[in-house]
Amino acid sequence: MWHGGLDSDGWHCVAPYRKKSLSGNEILVVWRPAGIRHDCGLGAACCLISIKARANTGAIMDWEENVRLALFADIHANRQAFSACLDFARARGAERIVCLGDIVGYGADPEWAVDTVMDLVNDGAIAVIGNHDQAIGTPSETMNAAAQIAIEWTRGRLSLAQRRFLAELPLTLREDDRLYVHSEASQPSQWRYVRDTPHAARSLEATDAHVTFCGHIHRPALYSMSSAAKMTSFIPTTDVPVQLLGGRRWLAVLGSVGQPRDGDPAASFAMLDTASREITYCRVPYDVETAADRIRANGLPRWLADRLLDGR
Ligand SMILES: [Fe+2]
Repeated sequence: MWHGGLDSDGWHCVAPYRKKSLSGNEILVVWRPAGIRHDCGLGAACCLISIKARANTGAIMDWEENVRLALFADIHANRQAFSACLDFARARGAERIVCLGDIVGYGADPEWAVDTVMDLVNDGAIAVIGNHDQAIGTPSETMNAAAQIAIEWTRGRLSLAQRRFLAELPLTLREDDRLYVHSEASQPSQWRYVRDTPHAARSLEATDAHVTFCGHIHRPALYSMSSAAKMTSFIPTTDVPVQLLGGRRWLAVLGSVGQPRDGDPAASFAMLDTASREITYCRVPYDVETAADRIRANGLPRWLADRLLDGR
């Protein structure tokens, strides 16, 4: 439900691409105007912001722009990996950031990871919650022992403001014809993995979005469904753009920034050109040794460090 309209009815002129989360159930949405006159004196550089209510399980945002998105999932408090990915994405012209959950957990730099995502969100990025983010405020009984230890350690490192930021992230977020969610979309609060085509079909049947983006499994994959519900799937090749054709609906499963599990230790993320509808999966080598050393130095389970080195 929209609140407001043009300036006199509640629109506000602000700097381009700026978005701020509000307390309670409201989100500010940046909307680049298309031929709309407004009176802030900034001319073409100005954007409009509107406010809409947010449901408990998600939020809906409308964007009227063609941009290059950089999409990151499963950062897992890996500062070295996320820094390298952000630099890589910006060098490739990323204009806006989407974070698909699991900002924390496993890695040794949760304060930096949350602060970085908070700053990105304040500058217009989008973020949804992951199961590790949720476990900071609501302990999970389904995580393995190493993950539980890391969550307990992470909880003690984060400030109240950082924990509140994680807790208030939406489970899903719809933007234009795209749905963002951490796990399988039919019941996002159940944190199901998309492991194969039947799981992907269930996720796609739960939405009418043209493209759903998720993470959670830490291995990249692309699924699509035809109008006759026929499924296809493949592992995307790094740096080879794939056009998400309009005649099908797509589920783009991202690899992990901070803890890849597909045998390649390089950080994984994807970029989407919303004009051409091309998605490109990217891999970014980073300083894995330092990330692993920091896990060991902070007394976290050594297995969490060792698995970074071979991407398993
Ligand atoms: Fe994860």
